[in-house]
Amino acid sequence: MCGCVLYSVIATSILALAIFLGDNMSFAGPSLASGGKTVRRAIEFGRTYVVKPKGKHLATVVWLHGLGDNGSSWSQLLETLPLPNIKWICPTAPTQPVTVFGGFPSTAWFDVGDLSEDAPDDIEGLDAAAAHVANLLSTEPFDIRLGIGGFSMGAATAMYSATCFAAGKYSNGSAYPANLSAIVGLSGWLPCSKTLSKKIGGDEAARRAASLPMLLCHGKGDDVVPYKFGEKSSRVLVSTGFLDATFKAYNGLGHYTSPEEMNEVCAWLTSKLGLGGRSP
Ligand SMILES: *[C@@H]1O[C@H](CO)[C@@H](O)[C@H](O)[C@H]1NC(C)=O
Ligand SMILES: *[C@@H]1O[C@H](CO)[C@@H](O)[C@H](O)[C@H]1NC(C)=O
Ligand SMILES: *[C@@H]1O[C@H](CO)[C@@H](O)[C@H](O)[C@H]1NC(C)=O
Ligand SMILES: *[C@@H]1O[C@H](CO)[C@@H](O)[C@H](O)[C@H]1NC(C)=O
Repeated sequence: MCGCVLYSVIATSILALAIFLGDNMSFAGPSLASGGKTVRRAIEFGRTYVVKPKGKHLATVVWLHGLGDNGSSWSQLLETLPLPNIKWICPTAPTQPVTVFGGFPSTAWFDVGDLSEDAPDDIEGLDAAAAHVANLLSTEPFDIRLGIGGFSMGAATAMYSATCFAAGKYSNGSAYPANLSAIVGLSGWLPCSKTLSKKIGGDEAARRAASLPMLLCHGKGDDVVPYKFGEKSSRVLVSTGFLDATFKAYNGLGHYTSPEEMNEVCAWLTSKLGLGGRSP
């Protein structure tokens, strides 16, 4: 049995939402610019789905869905992968007003305006999402290797978490608690890229950045998060010191995943998390 149907379900949900809202952007929602500083938002995360390892538990990966999706759809796809030593944790983002949808509420890890390089970053939302993920990982046994992966906005959250791990802290200064061994980002982008070099300043941060393996994949036909944006995110990461970041481009792939891409993810995780050559 394969997860082929799921690939297209994940692909269509964000597009359907975008098309649905396309004609009417007049919803009055809170914007990124208005007063996020004074009032801390009440953020309530959705349901978390766990896929238990079929073999010996060696690694735990938190996997983050894209805008408007939920943890359930990805958990069903991840369950079909030949990675018996990985426990997958698939949380669901909080439902919150999203600026790119004119303030219409949707499951989102943080707020996004438009998906361009100059769009402002919702740093409070990013910190909260990264903290939720790190907390999910913090209860894993000490000898289990930890990773974060995601699709689209989930990939952006994974990449942001990588920068917090390297810096040793969130943007708000609190200590980042998890020891990450792998980051996977599909069809995503790097938030806060303009301030990254400042964040990865010291020797310790540079050492952690250099030794964190990252796999970033992007479809050349992506019309939601432009290919060029994903490719540039990867270049910024490498030039800032994430020396073990690998970028993979997929011809003809839109804003969704494919069996070819997931095969790459499986091979890469097996290698980077040291899962090869062990019996299940
Ligand atoms: C757009 O949404 C507003 C509510 O915010 C509604 O009053 C208006 O009729 C809608 N327009 C269209 C074209 O759907
Ligand atoms: C999760 O999202 C999928 C679409 O990706 C949808 O079909 C399903 O109903 C959602 N499930 C829940 C529990 O919200
Ligand atoms: C930083 O953000 C995290 C996640 O929202 C939060 O748990 C922590 O208390 C914040 N720290 C400060 C100093 O505001
Ligand atoms: C973090 O994990 C790596 C293996 O992935 C290990 O070598 C290192 O000692 C760990 N660091 C801490 C502080 O636990």
